[in-house]
Amino acid sequence: MPLSYDAPARLLTISTDNSTYQMKVDEYGYLLHLYYGARAEGDLSYLLTYCDRSGMCGCPHDVADRTYSLDVLPQEFPFQGSGDMRSPLLIVRDAEGTFGCDLRYKCHEIRPGKYGLPGLPAAYDEGADDDAQTLSVTLTDERLGLEVELLYGVLPKLDVITRAAIVRNNGEARVTVEKAQTACLDFVTGDFDVITFDGRHAMERRPTRRQLKNGALSVGSRRGMSSNQYNPVMILCDREATETAGRCWSMSFVYSGGFLAEAERDQYEQARMQMGLDSDLFSYPLEPGEKIVAPEVIMTYSDAGLEKISHNLHRCIRRNVCRGPWRDAPRPILINSWEACYFDFTGDKLVELAKKAAELGLDMLVMDDGWFGARNDDHRGLGDWQPNMAKLGGTVADLARRVNEVGLGFGIWVEPEMVNEDSDLFRAHPDWALTVPGREPVLGRDQLVLDLSRPEVRDNLFEQLCAVLDQGGIDYVKWDYNRSIVDVYSRTASDQGKVLYDYMLGLYDLLERVRSRYPELLIEGCSAGGGRFDAGMLYYTPQIWTSDNTDARNRLEIQYGTSFGYPCSAMGAHVSACPNEITGRTIPLGARGTVAMGGGAFGYELDLMELNDRACELIKSQVNTYRTIEHLVREGLFYRLTDPKDATLAAWEFVSEDGAEALVCAVVTRVDGYGLANYVVPRGLTPGASYRMVSNGRVYSADALMDMGLPVSVPATPYESFMYRFERVG
Ligand code: DGJ
Repeated sequence: MPLSYDAPARLLTISTDNSTYQMKVDEYGYLLHLYYGARAEGDLSYLLTYCDRSGMCGCPHDVADRTYSLDVLPQEFPFQGSGDMRSPLLIVRDAEGTFGCDLRYKCHEIRPGKYGLPGLPAAYDEGADDDAQTLSVTLTDERLGLEVELLYGVLPKLDVITRAAIVRNNGEARVTVEKAQTACLDFVTGDFDVITFDGRHAMERRPTRRQLKNGALSVGSRRGMSSNQYNPVMILCDREATETAGRCWSMSFVYSGGFLAEAERDQYEQARMQMGLDSDLFSYPLEPGEKIVAPEVIMTYSDAGLEKISHNLHRCIRRNVCRGPWRDAPRPILINSWEACYFDFTGDKLVELAKKAAELGLDMLVMDDGWFGARNDDHRGLGDWQPNMAKLGGTVADLARRVNEVGLGFGIWVEPEMVNEDSDLFRAHPDWALTVPGREPVLGRDQLVLDLSRPEVRDNLFEQLCAVLDQGGIDYVKWDYNRSIVDVYSRTASDQGKVLYDYMLGLYDLLERVRSRYPELLIEGCSAGGGRFDAGMLYYTPQIWTSDNTDARNRLEIQYGTSFGYPCSAMGAHVSACPNEITGRTIPLGARGTVAMGGGAFGYELDLMELNDRACELIKSQVNTYRTIEHLVREGLFYRLTDPKDATLAAWEFVSEDGAEALVCAVVTRVDGYGLANYVVPRGLTPGASYRMVSNGRVYSADALMDMGLPVSVPATPYESFMYRFERVG
């Protein structure tokens, strides 16, 4: 079984198919972390070293042994007040405002199945086949009556271990939680790099790799959203780790609000990696009997480089985080109205667009922003989710019917969490927006954020959404969110330090209510493109609009970076018009198609009426091609063959789990004078097997392909692109 307890040695061990995680309750009741690495048997407590560090490190009073300090020892759940001066997971204050606690082991329990977190997103198990188990370890502080339940979930076949923590006030006075992070990994030795996924609006999640030196290296968000700027995925790896070699550890936060991910190298050159809630805008009082849940972190380990980390995370997110009928289904090929017409459309114009899309073989028309209230620009209307009947020429259901009649499914855009001051909703309920009394609010895109911590606000939004969705004909919803939260003040909160966390609980509640009422609905997440691209949202929305930047050159980098933590099935990827509206760059339609088709959930967002015949023919052929490769993009193992930032050829690959099929994609990104031949070297093919290239029928040895590669593009022309499909033939 994946979880075991060695009672005499007080060892708790978690085993996955290829990794082992071990902790120990020591003689003083502290829970020490021993190991997370390659599969290993036995007692690993010999890894702990004790020596006198000149009395400069804090020793617990009952230990009275200068070789024992929690400032040095590796810990499972470091807390402020123990003498550990590194970054803690937990900081609390008692009713007088005094900092600190002293958490010691009380008991543990091993349960079948993976725990869930009511009201919060969390990975789930698929039943007995997953062999999932839960370990619950309870730590207590007697003085405060505080109890912390550490939850570990293990999905052994996926090499995934999850963590969450529940902080309960079982005492008789208020305790305020000032910091409640979820997961920590302490390393007693090692030289590491840290990889984070950073960017900005329209340039999200490009990897930054840095050496971990003494001090702390952190990324996070105080924006009330996981953010376009930093993503809640962090990887720690050996300095020499590559895609295919070296030890790597990753943490992914299953939460969509503010976060902090930190790596620290301490005075003894030991490393700590940790992840959890942002604490700058958080201060959560717990009255006696109350609790707070530190949201889930997914961890995985690879001793075979970064590629294996991604494969583990892709499988886990695709199968054990995403839910509902769309989890495993081919996604519709969309035509989205945003970059096609922005706010400038009518029902008739959309029906024309739908007709053209049907001719080209697409599946669904999405009516983006601008269909409701007075929303003819982005200054007004958010909050009023009643259709603009004059613009649409009828109700949303009428338009859906007209679009269905030409053979397409129909979807709409919403941004339920927001309100414009110029809206009927705001005029009726100005207090429903998050604004600070006596101060003008900070605007973002001229809008304010609704207070989703309040049930009556969520009820109103739910009713408004139901009024539209109940009419029928809507198969898809794009759920957008286009600004950060700045003014953190709720009129009904018992304490303003709770608002951002309670907001997220409110958002998840609203999303869950919509999901349960419309189980067949495909919801695509969006937040100014990829501002809320996280495992938390993927629990509710199996795909997310990857970025507002649809320039194929930039998308290569954005999709490359996103692929470290997330599967392609989660990434919305559309072909848009050229010159690109953000970069001004012109890239041939062929390459734009390759990047979007090989990027994830495929679609178009351009005015199809403006295309010439040649472009229309090419789009038809792209749509046909996508239908033959869609299963590989959605469920195949993903290989980053080059880093598009540096390479002259951006190349990536999908291989079916059984190795029977492969798809190699490549785009020439740079051409030098009389340049070198570009070779693409696939990975993951079945060693010793032969593969037939579907387009030319030629048979190749898998070993030779994976050794010398395949020449493409000689001589190269800029933005030439390739998609080679292979089938194993023997
Ligand atoms: C931001 C999104 O990322 C875009 O795709 C589009 O839906 C706009 N919002 C609409 O306002």
